[in-house]
Amino acid sequence: MARKFKDDKLVVASHNAGKAREIAELLEAFPVKIVSAKELNLPEPDETGLTYIDNAVLKAVAATKACGLPALADDSGMSVDALDGAPGIYSARWAPNKDFGLAMERVRREMAEKERATGQKNDRAQFNCCLALAWPDGHVEHFMGVLQGHLVFPPRGNNGFGYDPIFIPDGHGITCGEMTHAFKQTISHRALAFRQLVDACFK
Ligand code: IMP
Repeated sequence: MARKFKDDKLVVASHNAGKAREIAELLEAFPVKIVSAKELNLPEPDETGLTYIDNAVLKAVAATKACGLPALADDSGMSVDALDGAPGIYSARWAPNKDFGLAMERVRREMAEKERATGQKNDRAQFNCCLALAWPDGHVEHFMGVLQGHLVFPPRGNNGFGYDPIFIPDGHGITCGEMTHAFKQTISHRALAFRQLVDACFK
């Protein structure tokens, strides 16, 4: 059984204002005040883990240790089957100067090289999100959300961010870059992880 969240304040251990706002929106129905790591001037730890879980947990634990409040952190990325799971936890690092046009081109190039080498075409990929909730006494709960899909090139659509323009979730005929933000929020890997977190710890 997961530990229930009974405090009245929660730190969102992300320095990204957009993410902190999204999390606050998702927890609006619950009587908890959300504070961001940025507001508290918390340091950003290096993401030295080797999995989404490692990185989400290390960010949540670092924040709770630094301020003494429970903390929620996430780590996300895209894993491509033909590339043995890459870029994975390095998804952001594949974009030089945050240029995801270059990151998507690298994915296309590496998939084409792999196809030439193996003679097999495989366009399967996943969007992954791990949410970790850490308490000051060291207890941690974590939840994984996985959105299955396949990749298309060239990129399509100007909505969203990151790898959205090349990712078509299963059961949908358009890329995440062609969906509205509101619709993507209902099906995304983050939404899937959030639903588990809310069911386990906030209900
Ligand atoms: P982080 O969790 O902030 O480290 O973000 C990891 C990276 O994964 C982002 O910079 C994006 O490149 C990618 N990513 C995570 N979630 C999504 C998504 O919903 N759409 C597209 N790319 C994503």
